[in-house]
Amino acid sequence: MYPILAIDQGTTSTKAYLRMADGTTRLAGSRGHSQLHPHPGWVEHDPLELLENIRALLAAAAPFARLGLANQGETVVAWDAQTKRPLHNAIVWQDNRTSPETERLKAAGLEAETLARAGLPLDPYFSATKLRWLLDNTQDARALHRQGRLRLGTSDAFFIDCLTGTFATDVSTASRTSLLNLRTLQWDETLCALFGVPLECLPEIRPTAGDFGQLPGGATLTASAVDQQAALFGHGCQQPGDIKITFGTGAFALGLTGAAPVMGGTTGLLPTAAWQIGAAAPQFALEGGILTAGSALEWLRGIGLLADFAEIDALSGPSAAAQGVFFVPALAGLGCPYWDRTARGAWLGLSLETPRAALIRAVVEGIALRAAELAAAFAKTSPLARVSIDGGLSRSTYFTQFLANALGHPVSVAASADLTALGMLQFCESLESTSRHAGQDWQVVTPQADDFTAIHMKFASAVACVRGHGAQP
Ligand code: G3P
Repeated sequence: MYPILAIDQGTTSTKAYLRMADGTTRLAGSRGHSQLHPHPGWVEHDPLELLENIRALLAAAAPFARLGLANQGETVVAWDAQTKRPLHNAIVWQDNRTSPETERLKAAGLEAETLARAGLPLDPYFSATKLRWLLDNTQDARALHRQGRLRLGTSDAFFIDCLTGTFATDVSTASRTSLLNLRTLQWDETLCALFGVPLECLPEIRPTAGDFGQLPGGATLTASAVDQQAALFGHGCQQPGDIKITFGTGAFALGLTGAAPVMGGTTGLLPTAAWQIGAAAPQFALEGGILTAGSALEWLRGIGLLADFAEIDALSGPSAAAQGVFFVPALAGLGCPYWDRTARGAWLGLSLETPRAALIRAVVEGIALRAAELAAAFAKTSPLARVSIDGGLSRSTYFTQFLANALGHPVSVAASADLTALGMLQFCESLESTSRHAGQDWQVVTPQADDFTAIHMKFASAVACVRGHGAQP
C-alpha cells in the first residue's frame, strides 16, 4: 500500500521522505528544532516541538498509507498517560548529567550485571540513568507514578503514544536503554531494580516492522526503529563483515551478526538488537559509536574557524596528518572502544607555521581516524568485507578519500546521504514480499595512500593524551 512516508526524527532535524508505488522517493519536508544546553554537558529537546514538527510533516505529506518513524535512540521522555503532557524536556543521548550516577554504579561493581544482561557498559549515553533522573527530578513524576499515570520511555514511545494512542516501542530502541535483556528481548527486572526505573512505566516492546496503531487520518504506523538500525537496513548490510558507518551528529558503525546476540568481548563494540520484521526471528548487530562527528564541524563553524561545510573540500595542500597536526574529536568524551567520558577534544602538533587549513582538516581527519578505530574493532570480530557510509560527511570528497586511505579499504558511498529514511521505507515494505524496490547507487572510493601505520600510531598517542582532561581536578 503506497504512498509510504518515512520520518527521520534525528538529533538536529526531522526529515520526511515519501515513496510512491513506482518506487520514486522524494524529500517531503524538513524541520529543525532547538538544541537546549541548560548546563555544561546537558543536552535537551522540547518534546512538544519535536512532536509538532512530526505532525507538520505528516500534514504536508498527506495522503499516505503507511508511516515508518526513525528515532534518536537513547533520548528519553517522561509524560502523563492521561494528558500526554511531558513532565520535562527530553534528555538527549549526548547528555552526560548522569555521569556521577554511572560512576557510582560502576564503583558498586554493577557493570558486570549490565554487560551480561543488556550487553551495555555503564555510561550516561544509554537511557536507563536518564529515565531515573527524570523520575527523581521532575515535579509530579512520583505522584503520577502512584496514580498509575506515569509513562517513561525513549522518544519514539512518546511520539507513538501521542500519534496513535499505542504505548509501545520496538526491540531496536528498547535495546538502547540498558533495561532490555538482550536474550529474552523483554524488560529485565534486575536491571530495572538496579537503575531504579519502574518496569510498569515502560512501553510494550513490539517488532520493528509490524503495527504501532493508526494515525488520525487512517494511515498505519507500520515501523519504528532507532535511526542507526534503520540505516543498517537501508545500507543492505546482511553479511558478517559488512559494516555501515553513518556520519551524523555522531558517527555510528554497525554490522549485522545474525539471529543471536554476539558480545563484543574486548573490542569495545556493543551488541544491540538490529530489527525484527513481523513474526520473523529478531536480528542482532554489533555497534560502535563516536559521540561527536558532525557536531565537531558544527562547533568549528560556531567558533568561526570554518565558514561553511563546502570549505572542507575547497582547502588545498597536504593533509594535516602529513604536517604532524592531529585533532581528537572527543568533545563529549570518547565512545567506542574507550567509553571514557573524561576525555576532551584537542589539537596536537601545532607550530608557529600551522595554517588555519590544517586546523580544519585535522578535525575532519580526526573523525576519519576515529572511524578507522571502529572499523579496526569490527575487523577483530570478522574480516572486513564491505564498508559503506552515509550521512553529511559522506558528501565530502576530501573526507571519503581520507577515510578510505585511513582504512586501507574501499569505501562505498551512498548516492543518497540519508539511508535512515530509506531503511524505514524498506522496513514498511518488508512485510510484503512483492513490493520491494531497489535500494541505492554507490560510488566506491579506493585507498590511494601508502602505509598509514605511522599516522594511526600518532593518532593513538594523541587519543591517550586527551583522556582524563574532563575529570574534576
Ligand atoms: O545513538 C544516537 C544516534 O542514534 C543518533 O543519531 O542521526 O540523530 O545523530 P542522529
